[in-house]
Amino acid sequence: MKISAIVAMDSQNGIGVNNQLPWHLPNDLQFFKSVTIGKPIIMGRKTFESLGRPLPGRLNVVISSQQLALPESVILLPSIDAALAYVAQQGKEEVFIIGGGQIFAATMPILDTLYITEVHTTVAADIFFPIIDAADWNLDWQEAHTIDEKHAFAYTFKKYLRK
Ligand SMILES: NC(=O)c1ccc[n+]([C@@H]2O[C@H](COP(=O)([O-])OP(=O)(O)OC[C@H]3O[C@@H](n4cnc5c(N)ncnc54)[C@H](OP(=O)(O)O)[C@@H]3O)[C@@H](O)[C@H]2O)c1
Repeated sequence: MKISAIVAMDSQNGIGVNNQLPWHLPNDLQFFKSVTIGKPIIMGRKTFESLGRPLPGRLNVVISSQQLALPESVILLPSIDAALAYVAQQGKEEVFIIGGGQIFAATMPILDTLYITEVHTTVAADIFFPIIDAADWNLDWQEAHTIDEKHAFAYTFKKYLRK
């Protein structure tokens, strides 16, 4: 099973502030949807709380040490290993790690593919994505977008494959 991550980060790898996304970029949300739709997604408890609801059209797996009351469709598991094993058991070919900082940090060594949206700004982030070491990753694809009336920052979609 291919393990992919998808994230939007600023120029210092900042990804969150006060348990929220630091920006509103509709095209990035659309990109996230187009890449992950139909695929299982694994997230930490705080990211699930930040989203506030399961994302439709995807198997939602939440990792927490707590017994939480979650919507019926959401799978709650106590570790990353348990989450990956559960998804693999469903016969899925690709799983997406969707955050947040704790889950990205723990899974970085086992990721095969990164979908990174580079947001061309620096925000006052309190949560960060790990360093992407150029020695480990090949840039496979990128697409740049400029500021427009709906997007306060320029941004670039990038896809990296592990070397
Ligand atoms: N820019 C982006 O693309 C993006 C994407 C996703 C999230 N974010 C941002 O990231 C921030 C949230 O990230 P975060 O690092 O604070 O939290 P997180 O990774 O979403 O969730 C952390 C929680 O997950 C559970 N957890 C983590 N590791 C575990 C383990 N090994 N075993 C069992 N449970 C484990 C724990 O839940 P319990 O405490 O319940 O045990 C922990 O408190 C928010 O600001 C969000 O907006 C940004």
